[in-house]
Amino acid sequence: MTYRYNFQDVLSRSERITWRVEDLIGKGKTLDFAKPFMPENLAHVVELDFLSGREKTLLNHIRGHAYLSIFGLVEEFILPFVLDHARPYINGDDYRARAFLEFAGEEAKHIHLFRRFKEEFVKGFPVACKVIGPADAIAKHILSHHPLSVALTILHIEWMSQRHFQESIHDDGTLDPQFKSLLKHHWMEEMQHAQLDTLMVETIAEGMSPAQIDQAVDGYLAIGGFLDDGLKQQTAFDLEALETVSGRGLSPAERERFLTAQHQANRWTYLGTGMTHPNFLETLGRLSPAQRTVLEGIAPGFC
Ligand SMILES: [Fe+2]
Ligand SMILES: [Fe+2]
Repeated sequence: MTYRYNFQDVLSRSERITWRVEDLIGKGKTLDFAKPFMPENLAHVVELDFLSGREKTLLNHIRGHAYLSIFGLVEEFILPFVLDHARPYINGDDYRARAFLEFAGEEAKHIHLFRRFKEEFVKGFPVACKVIGPADAIAKHILSHHPLSVALTILHIEWMSQRHFQESIHDDGTLDPQFKSLLKHHWMEEMQHAQLDTLMVETIAEGMSPAQIDQAVDGYLAIGGFLDDGLKQQTAFDLEALETVSGRGLSPAERERFLTAQHQANRWTYLGTGMTHPNFLETLGRLSPAQRTVLEGIAPGFC
């Protein structure tokens, strides 16, 4: 074992975190639509100077809805993958088996959490916002890749959620408190997931040849390309929702600016923040220094 994480420590930290979905939403706890949901560092609505202040807030909320949907969607392929990974250890290493089962249980809770927040969103937002999917088709496509490609994608997502909170959300006092609370509580549990994923990647890669590892990293890049196509589609859905809720159609030039800037903002949110995370790059570099260099060459296009 070359990493500083071990299963017993990760499990014990995870067991000390005990929040429930019901503690964060419902029974008087709801969303305040007067405030932004997403930090500007991820939403990037301010630069769209052709939008009014109200329209920028509406777009921020639409991006918040997409965030709930996209995280709900990715958790749907993470959960079965982690359960499959845990199964061979059920009768073996107790701490390893329990750490991965705890991880899976938390992802099931997160799916529930994101769904509950989406229900509150729908109650308070005047129009329906479309999202990419269906989730099971996306999960099926991603899970059809090599397990190491999928594990790297999951590792990317976990470190991405750490970065979102630490760099953009923790110090932002303007956000809706309930939405911020969701992001904070998700971040608390995702830290342990990121560490378990690191160990999972290492286990899966054991015994693989350099050529097989290169191929698996190519698979991770292909999943990234697939997700990027989804983000482009999501940006078009977000534009449609904004025009509907604001009651104002944008000019062709404004639409073009919107689609370019918001697609890039989505790339940064879901791809750039993960692929440039130092801990993700460290793990990738241990598997293949050459593939780390490839990724570092590609990454600026997603930042
Ligand atoms: Fe999660
Ligand atoms: Fe997670």
